[in-house]
Amino acid sequence: AKKAVLGPLVGAVDQGTSSTRFLVFNSKTAELLSHHQVEIKQEFPREGWVEQDPKEILQSVYECIEKTCEKLGQLNIDISNIKAIGVSNQRETTVVWDKLTGEPLYNAVAAPVSPVSPGPSDPVAVVPSGSSVPAAGTSSVWLDLRTQSTVENLSKRIPGNNNFVKSKTGLPLSTYFSAVKLRWLLDNVRKVQRAVEEDRALFGTIDSWLIWSLTGGANGGVHCTDVTNASRTMLFNIHSLEWDKELCEFFEIPMKILPNVRSSSEIYGLMKAGALEGVPISGCLGDQSAALVGQMCFQDGQAKNTYGTGCFLLCNTGRKCVFSEHGLLTTVAYKLGRDKPVYYALEGSVAIAGAVIRWLRDNLGIIQTSEEIEKLAKEVGTSYGCYFVPAFSGLYAPYWEPSARGIICGLTQFTNKCHIAFAALEAVCFQTREILDAMNRDCGIPLSHLQVDGGMTNNKILMQLQADILYIPVVKPSMPETTALGAAMAAGAAEGVGVWSLEPEDLSAVTMERFEPQINAEESEIRYSTWKKAVMKSVGWVT
Ligand code: G3P
Repeated sequence: AKKAVLGPLVGAVDQGTSSTRFLVFNSKTAELLSHHQVEIKQEFPREGWVEQDPKEILQSVYECIEKTCEKLGQLNIDISNIKAIGVSNQRETTVVWDKLTGEPLYNAVAAPVSPVSPGPSDPVAVVPSGSSVPAAGTSSVWLDLRTQSTVENLSKRIPGNNNFVKSKTGLPLSTYFSAVKLRWLLDNVRKVQRAVEEDRALFGTIDSWLIWSLTGGANGGVHCTDVTNASRTMLFNIHSLEWDKELCEFFEIPMKILPNVRSSSEIYGLMKAGALEGVPISGCLGDQSAALVGQMCFQDGQAKNTYGTGCFLLCNTGRKCVFSEHGLLTTVAYKLGRDKPVYYALEGSVAIAGAVIRWLRDNLGIIQTSEEIEKLAKEVGTSYGCYFVPAFSGLYAPYWEPSARGIICGLTQFTNKCHIAFAALEAVCFQTREILDAMNRDCGIPLSHLQVDGGMTNNKILMQLQADILYIPVVKPSMPETTALGAAMAAGAAEGVGVWSLEPEDLSAVTMERFEPQINAEESEIRYSTWKKAVMKSVGWVT
């Protein structure tokens, strides 16, 4: 059969905490033509530890690209129409690798988080008491809590006032960001220390690891990151848009291992292998920034909430850095071209959203697939007074409380798995309400509606609950893959590619679904204040 001609196409890698996807869009209509998804393993070797294998992540990217290209072939779409590739990724997750071999450099992180759970001994690692050693080929994931004592030690010696880190980076000192994970690796893993001494070590977040590997790895791979990913490392000055010498000295990070910081939209290098060999990689954005772009939140005051492993509400604050008084982060939103201005965002980060569904599936086994959660919740239509605070990794925005741990409370003999499923969905909505409230206080002008995206938004019960709990309409695009769309837009719009206009001519492929609040305001408030009581019970669990 004759192959259909569609004009320029753009591919996007969406490498999230739970899965990797490759998606191909029509650059004229933003229509999604084909995609493939692979779930990614997460290891929890110790309480508070979360690890992934960087090589599995890379392999999953190749697999998704190959499978998507095969599917396009079956649709008679010629893959030579793919003119560019964008990368969006889970942020903060930290990888150190050997530039000569291309191998991730630490064997896994095995140090006891609490003194009562000693890790196995590992001859390749230096294991000072209270620290750890990794298992083969892992990266330290953004949710990982092993650096809590590193953070406590660092916070005792912050120079000047407590604003030193926040004023430069927009971030609170927390286990969440890459600098402390990297510090931990440098302190605890002999292989990393040796590679740094011998000038073989490279550091990167997942975007850097992927772009370096995809553009040739040890044979000429490009070691770079973009401003959005850099802004999550805690080593990057969000005003000067450069690695900050004082921060690197404070965290004792050798600057020679850091990637070059580039804009979010420019040609970084060409694919060196696979079905798309020779195609430029020309877009790179942390996944939350990518979703902001994909939702076209280009104006000051426009916001989106993405429901993935975590939940992240970002509000574009234009060309000004706004510092939060209510527990939000200041972060780089995007810089769409070398000579284009940088835009900033306020961000409310919730650590656990989709991850709670995965936990119900993998740890409690009360559902077999993530989709089943909707059926269970629908059976009861209420949590029957049960509240679930999934503070598995402490609480992020607006509390930043590492001492919190998950609780399920309000149980009676009547409570069953359906109520717990409902409470898990409600928890995602309450957490979003907390950050929306903080956002409204910081911005002064309350949001009139919330634009949402991400895999969980296919769950209609969740969307209706969200509208009820926020008490404003929730608006969802028919194509929820806005993270990938944002990365594709950045790649297609790059200088030297030029196949995507940031104002697409035809958006008929994108329709909107709207969820209006259906309960009364008083009921919404009562449920929210009970949630807050439950949150208070989760705080201080770990001392
Ligand atoms: O900051 C972490 C975030 O980038 C992870 O995104 O999609 O895995 O929840 P996601």
